[in-house]
Amino acid sequence: MHKIVLLPGDGIGPDIVASAVRVLRAVLKEKESQFMFSHHLIGGTAIDQTGLPLPDETKDALLAADAVLLGAVGGPKWDVGPGHLRPEAGLLGMRKLLGVYANLRPVKAYSKLLGASPLRQEVAKDVDVMIIRELTGGIYFGERERSALASGEKYAKDTMYYTESEIRRVVKKGFEAAQLRRKQLTSVDKANVLDSSRLWREVVESMKGDFPDVTVNHVLVDSCAMHLVTRPHTFDVIVTENLFGDILSDEAAVLTGSIGLLPSASLGEGAGLYEPIHGSAPDIAGLGIANPLGTILSAALMLRYSFGMDEEAARIEQAVEYVVQEEGLRTKDLAGKDEPFVTTTQMTDAVIAHLI
Ligand code: NAD
Ligand code: IPM
Ligand code: MN
Repeated sequence: MHKIVLLPGDGIGPDIVASAVRVLRAVLKEKESQFMFSHHLIGGTAIDQTGLPLPDETKDALLAADAVLLGAVGGPKWDVGPGHLRPEAGLLGMRKLLGVYANLRPVKAYSKLLGASPLRQEVAKDVDVMIIRELTGGIYFGERERSALASGEKYAKDTMYYTESEIRRVVKKGFEAAQLRRKQLTSVDKANVLDSSRLWREVVESMKGDFPDVTVNHVLVDSCAMHLVTRPHTFDVIVTENLFGDILSDEAAVLTGSIGLLPSASLGEGAGLYEPIHGSAPDIAGLGIANPLGTILSAALMLRYSFGMDEEAARIEQAVEYVVQEEGLRTKDLAGKDEPFVTTTQMTDAVIAHLI
């Protein structure tokens, strides 16, 4: 029995997870009996019900899971209080608990959605980048402190810390992904300023010999941010540390037309974690208009990476492509100013209807 832990979370999370589960059940058909789905609390909803963003009951379920599907966490209601009692702390605690150090964020533009991108069509076209973000280290998890100087002036400190082995294991994922794609690996750092980046670059250089078929280049993060919007089609696989990857992947998302489209897979040695890259979208929560495709595509990645079900994963991806490209359906985030749009449920229904 495959155990899938569902974590709807906050804001639009419950709606988009419900959509993805409907698609999963439809694609699994008779194989559904091999899967067990269970819902658990995380984020703001968990704080409201238990006082903690990642309750023990959820941790136990995560440790017994084969795969995890998350909606999103967070919202203005919980943007108060100490860092460790915020919804985001539940998400970070879960990533650390699962040890999912490699976060794969594929960014692929649909040709019919080029108009939804703020970039000129000739710049946004043909984008197909795999961003691999280190997910369990760096400044997110380094030593931190808030205190005050003798004068009484407050200060705060966060530390970007990486060991060689933390860098090596995620960079290896980068090389391996590149081998299966266009064989170009871009390692992004800030080696002109940061020691953690200089170590990162040394580790990448030391691994090149093991992957002679992959071309490697190093790009500084500020320059990469610029190149992503001037020549995005030139990137194949990008591998970078946690914070840089967080920022660059949101930037890359706009190339596709909407952040609501982008899925992710977070992988380590054990259960994989699958989540759209966007947040809980408090501005549209409860309206039934969220784009469910990023979560539906995350469920496809789950079938591929956690259960080796390439065929079912491809069927979901093809149905999404058909609905967006051929049928021309748009949720509000994808629709032009005066264009009609469909609801979360209607988009989900259409994907299910086109599962071949
Ligand atoms: P966000 O990604 O939630 O929203 C940014 C913009 O994109 C909003 O205008 C939103 O309406 C839109 N958007 C996002 N997803 C969409 C979808 N599926 N369909 C249509 N439109 C969509 O980012 P934010 O507003 O900066 O953050 C809101 C909250 O979410 C914060 O509390 C933040 O910490 C949290 N967050 C959580 C995750 C996560 O759980 N993985 C990721 C990012 C942000
Ligand atoms: C993401 C989010 C999270 C992150 C937040 C909500 C902690 O922005 O998944 O990209 O920074 O990793
Ligand atoms: Mn982010």
